[in-house]
Amino acid sequence: MKGYLMKLQNKVAIVTGAATGIGQGIAIRLAKEGAAIVVDYVGKPGAADATLNAIKSAGGKVIAVAADVSNPQQVQAMVDEAVKTFGSLDILVNNAGIEFKHPFVEFPVEQFQKIISVNLIGPFVCSQIAARQMIKQGKGGRIINISSVHEDLPMPTNAPYCATKGGIRMLTRTIAVELAPHKITVNNIGPGAIFTPIDADVEANKAMEDALMAEIPLGRWGKPEEVASLAAFLASDEAAYCTGSTFFIDGGMLRQAGSL
Ligand code: BGC
Repeated sequence: MKGYLMKLQNKVAIVTGAATGIGQGIAIRLAKEGAAIVVDYVGKPGAADATLNAIKSAGGKVIAVAADVSNPQQVQAMVDEAVKTFGSLDILVNNAGIEFKHPFVEFPVEQFQKIISVNLIGPFVCSQIAARQMIKQGKGGRIINISSVHEDLPMPTNAPYCATKGGIRMLTRTIAVELAPHKITVNNIGPGAIFTPIDADVEANKAMEDALMAEIPLGRWGKPEEVASLAAFLASDEAAYCTGSTFFIDGGMLRQAGSL
């Protein structure tokens, strides 16, 4: 009962889309648990500096790698870099995700394709390349997908996003079965309304925010740190018997939907 036992010592984790939001929260928390972190990001060099600095100042091990999650060459290079720098790859968190909102009848198909590419092809490509590495290492592994309550719950104006989250639900269930013989577990976290840049439009509009809060029994936004503590559990040895499931963290949102 002396000190806090870090859950992820000697583990190496890639967290995609970790420059901001939930990915940033997860990268910082896994680092605090002792894991060496590869912060995946897109955009200008320096875009992930806030995450990098937070981990470094807490004494953690971290590198940042720019990689488009839907591009197999870039993802392979990132996995190779993780292994070269830290010696292995034990945990993959598929967090990178985007959404654009329009009424369905006006939704441009090009935007749908972009959403599919980041939210669904991304986790497919990253999981496939990470799983090959984990199988080669022969000591199991953890794949955690950041899905959403919207893998289950419709959200008007957000049809493509919901479709990709429904897709990731079945990707997870299927590859969890295929990868189980290798002791690689695959699970989804299904967050509800978490206070991050993806919801900047709602955060800036009091009427929209009030309407959203009215749908949440706990009556508030979730925090990236709260999602991160669930990720830390699922990434750890303690979660060895969890696979193929979605773990919702939504302030009760799914239970309330449709009940008013
Ligand atoms: C979406 C947000 C939405 C939240 C709750 C998330 O998956 O990205 O736009 O507010 O779910 O509905």
